[in-house]
Formats: sequence, structure tokens, C-alpha cells
Amino acid sequence: MADDLDMLRADIEAAMAGAEDLRALDAVRVAALGKSGQVTALLKGLGALPPDERRARGAEVNVLKGEIERALEHRRVTLEAFALDARLAAERLDVSLPPRLAAPTSPEAGSIHPISRTMEELIALFGAMGFAVAEGPDIEGDWHNFSALNIPEHHPARQDHDTFYLTAPEGGRRPVLRTHTSPVQIRTMLSQEPPIRVIVPGRTWRADHDATHSPMFHQVEGLVIGRDIHMGHLKGTLVDFLRAFFGIADLPVRFRASYFPFTEPSMEVDIGWSRKTGELGQGGDWLEILGSGMVHPKVLANAGIDPRVWQGFAFGMGIERITMLKHGIPDLRPFYEADLRWLRHYAASPLSPFTLHDAS
Ligand code: PHE
Repeated sequence: MADDLDMLRADIEAAMAGAEDLRALDAVRVAALGKSGQVTALLKGLGALPPDERRARGAEVNVLKGEIERALEHRRVTLEAFALDARLAAERLDVSLPPRLAAPTSPEAGSIHPISRTMEELIALFGAMGFAVAEGPDIEGDWHNFSALNIPEHHPARQDHDTFYLTAPEGGRRPVLRTHTSPVQIRTMLSQEPPIRVIVPGRTWRADHDATHSPMFHQVEGLVIGRDIHMGHLKGTLVDFLRAFFGIADLPVRFRASYFPFTEPSMEVDIGWSRKTGELGQGGDWLEILGSGMVHPKVLANAGIDPRVWQGFAFGMGIERITMLKHGIPDLRPFYEADLRWLRHYAASPLSPFTLHDAS
């Protein structure tokens, strides 16, 4: 290649190497290949040469042009990668930095619904006692919701005016919106080998509607199965839980004989409060808070567990109920009305999630 072309190429290559961003590189391209660029000028000048020389010179200038185009492209790719790296470095987010809190009333600040918060608390508290979370469907079969739990055919819980039934499939029984979380006891025992230690927070349905009842509400079930799980475990677990959940170290707790078809013996659990002031922990009155008992041997057998080898306890309580008591919420209905004033008052900040530390 002619010396002048070699020199021109060396100049342009040096300019490219010196271009530190895409704009500078584009200036190099324009200076070489633009309308009045140096290489363009050489191509334009070919016409003035005698034919022989023009062909040889033309081939060389075109080779140079091709080389410059490839080198420009190469440099462009490199500079784009640099630019991306620089941008990634500049826009990096440190997600571990403490957040700047939005004002509590600002419309952008979301919050955790009291039901969700209580569920998180339940999972944290029982989680610390070694419980896992189990789940089941909202639409249940009659067998899981009633029969397997030893609930007889004519039990009031099965009656139409208490329970939401769906249309029966051809020749089958009507599916039911589960009336409690207890069917998940059955599902868990059928799907897991004992020992078992689970809680089941979830939606439940009953045809009730007033200041303390909603057709859709939430319960948490507990199930513990082992070779020698006894009433002492039941009582210890529930007393510890209730005192931690309500944050009252000496909360009075009373176990009162009761009846459920799926536990034997069965106990209703009451906590101490004042009927007059509504305050928990003192006042000499009792408030019923949950149902519990030793899992009935028939229920174990229905779920494929040998009651001569395994035994355990179960409990169930209303999540709205314990939430209302804990936070002094007088009416159940606004839980589901999405009223922002209510939510601002009762919902929790998502930036101060519940930790066991709070429960001391
Ligand atoms: N399923 C019962 C209810 O809904 C509560 C319960 C659960 C009682 C487990 C005893 C054992 O009222």
C-alpha cells in the first residue's frame, strides 16, 4: 500500500484508539468516511488519475476504507461495553441501605393488613417452636371437612343454613367451602409421615354476618402428632403461645372441658380479661379464645395413622378474633372493606415487619 495511505491509516487508528466514548468515535468516523472525510476525498480524487493508476490506487483506497470500517465497528462494540459497565456501576442500588420512610399517611406508603400481620406473627411464634406451615384448598370435599373428622351426618355444622355448599357433581356429594381449617389435619396426616408439627393459617367460610362474624374469615389450625405427645404438650404450647402473642407474660389461661367430634378429650381455652374495660390479663373474667384437644383415635385412623402407635393434639382459633383482641379493634366488618382510614389506623408498616424480638 502506498506510503501516504499507510500514514493515513496509522493516523485514523490512533484517533480511534484515543476515542474514549461513542461520540468521539463517531467524530473519527466522520473525519475519515464522512462526506468530506479524508478517505472519501481520496475516493473522489480517483477520477482525476489516468486509468491504470486509477485502478491500482482505487483498489488500495477501498481496502483502506474496508479496514477502517471494521476497526470502527470493533472499537464501537468495545466502547458500548464500557458504557454499559459504567452505567451499571453508576446506577447500582444498595438494597441493604436503610429505607427513607414515607410519611405514614402518604398515599404511596402501603401497609400490612392486620390479618396478614397476625399470620406472620403466628408463623414466627409457632415457627420458633418447630412448627411448619401446611395448607389446603378452600373448596373441600365433604369427607375432608366433615366425615374424616368424625363429624356425624346430622351435625348442625353440616346444615345448609350454616355452611356454603357448591353444586354436587353427578352422583357425588356437594363440595363445601371449608367451615374450618381442620380438614388440613386430615390432608397433612395423609401426605406426611408422623411425627408431625404444623400450623395451618387460612380462609374459612360460614353463613354468619354481624359485628363479630363474617361469612369469610380466617383460622389457624395446629396439629402435633408423635409417639408420646400428651396433654402437657398441648397446654404448654398454647400457654406459651398465648402469652407471647398477647405480650403478657403472666396472662391467665384456663383449660375448660368441652366437646368437638374430632378430639377426645376436648378443651376450650379461655384467657383472663376484664369484661368491663376489655383489658386483657386482669379483671377476673374469662374470654373463650380457642378450641383444642387430643386428636380422636378415629380421626387418626381415618387419616391412615395407627392410633395404637401415634397420638397428638390439635387446636384451632379465629385469626380475626385474636387480632381484634390484641389491637382493641371493636368491629370485624371493616377488615374487609378496604377503607383507607381504617387501614391507616390499624395496618402495620411493611418496613417494620414482625420479628420474634417484638414478642418478648
Ligand atoms: N375446628 C374447630 C372450630 O372451627 C376448632 C378446633 C380445632 C377444635 C382443632 C379442636 C381441635 O371451631
